[in-house]
Amino acid sequence: MSGVQRAQRLASRKEAGAYYTPDPVAASLLSWAVHTAGDRMLDPSCGDGRFIRGHRNSVGIEQDPQAALQAMTVAPWALIHEGDFFAWASNTEERFDCAAGNPPFIRYQTFKGAVRDRALNLCARLGARFSGLASSWAPFLVATASLLRPGGRMAFVVPAEIGHAPYASPLLEYLIEHFDIVHVVAVRKKLFPDLSEDCWLLYADGFGGSTTELRFTTVERFSASKRPPRTFERIAVAEWRSWKRRLRPFLMPRAARELYRLVADDTTSHRFGDLASIGIGYVSGANDFFHLRPSLAEKLGIPSQLLHPTVRNGRSLPPKLLNASVVNKWVRDDEPIYLLRLPKTPDVPAPVRKYLDTEEGWTAREAYKCRVRTPWYSVPDVQIPDFFLTYMSGRAAGLVRNSAGCTCTNSVHSVRLRDKRILGQLYDLWDTPFVQLSCELEGHPLGGGMLKLEPREATEIVLPSPMLLAELPGIALEDAIGTMQSWRHYGEA
Ligand SMILES: C[S@@+](CC[C@H](N)C(=O)[O-])C[C@H]1O[C@@H](n2cnc3c(N)ncnc32)[C@H](O)[C@@H]1O
Repeated sequence: MSGVQRAQRLASRKEAGAYYTPDPVAASLLSWAVHTAGDRMLDPSCGDGRFIRGHRNSVGIEQDPQAALQAMTVAPWALIHEGDFFAWASNTEERFDCAAGNPPFIRYQTFKGAVRDRALNLCARLGARFSGLASSWAPFLVATASLLRPGGRMAFVVPAEIGHAPYASPLLEYLIEHFDIVHVVAVRKKLFPDLSEDCWLLYADGFGGSTTELRFTTVERFSASKRPPRTFERIAVAEWRSWKRRLRPFLMPRAARELYRLVADDTTSHRFGDLASIGIGYVSGANDFFHLRPSLAEKLGIPSQLLHPTVRNGRSLPPKLLNASVVNKWVRDDEPIYLLRLPKTPDVPAPVRKYLDTEEGWTAREAYKCRVRTPWYSVPDVQIPDFFLTYMSGRAAGLVRNSAGCTCTNSVHSVRLRDKRILGQLYDLWDTPFVQLSCELEGHPLGGGMLKLEPREATEIVLPSPMLLAELPGIALEDAIGTMQSWRHYGEA
């Protein structure tokens, strides 16, 4: 294979979610799932066959012809279907004693078309309703479970998203309703060193039953074993549901969870979304064209009332306060910080018209976001927020007060208070350990040590009253923050 062919193959494997499981992990899952030599075993996405080669009575499905061929070579006894698992699963009459494997992690942007339609329709028929934002692995597991015989079991590698993604909840709800035992093992150290994604393990036993609890174990690293860990926390399903159906909060010690719950439920506490509206900044569609350096704006003669200072990039924000002196420095440094803010009217001043008709202007109006709005040059949703909220953060999410009247691109969230009187209070509250912990719990890890806060997650951040805050044990909160940061690998090389 040439270098180019190898690169192409790697890219298409990435698109198909083709990261093969390390042998000790495959062997461990398999040895728990298979009880006897006669057990019929299914791997719904068998890749190069590293699960099915461990058990003679296996069936593997694989859509990649090259991988399917490899699987046939390493497991010549197995029955291998080349094609889409969901097409096969919708028609097969076969039922299995057990299933094991590692489903493809294909995000919704790539998991689309006929395969996704088949997957979501099949799961809906089975009673698990996924939205179009589901990643492929969750429907894979529902469809696989549905092919088990009564009493059957399955053991899979799953992305750590099972602990927080909204689309993990239809999967877990399905498992709770269809198995006697559902056990999730969170593994802190990476199972796949080359993958930015963390992976956990899922064991479900006793198909045809149901349970009112989830078993949950946290381990520092994977160690080979013929069964799931014997020690686990029993999480009542009702409790898991009360944490917005997320397992992530259960990474923290029970005492920290109870403290958090107590504060969140206190009548004097608020959710951030009660006090403020939080949204993304504007999307210009052509950042380089719409953001002018002061020197260029002057040269073009653009009227100053059509230029609005903006935060183009979250990284340029100072820690707590954006004021006039920061903006003046940006101007002195000739940063491209002026948004060309044009009204929706057809009559634009001559210097602006001239700029719109430059080559850059003709390129900009072809950009998708510009093409689909009228007029193309009027950037919508330009707001002057009270605060900017960084939503991809290392140590902690930053809240920066906007006392310079700046607007912002979608590189940061814009926070507008419903009642400006709480401005100072919010400013003081933000960096406290409790609110930082709340960001950790309501947000989610993004890989590379980063914490992400979607606007809907930010609205859930808990803001205690100053009186309650004064009573909280700082050390316990700091410990809990440290735990959550370590699970998202903050500060690791
Ligand atoms: C994460 S790999 C796992 C392979 C193997 N089970 C292992 O653990 O090493 C996922 C596999 O799913 C395959 N795949 C992706 N979409 C599929 C589909 N719709 N039907 C069947 N296989 C699919 C990919 O080609 C890839 O080989």
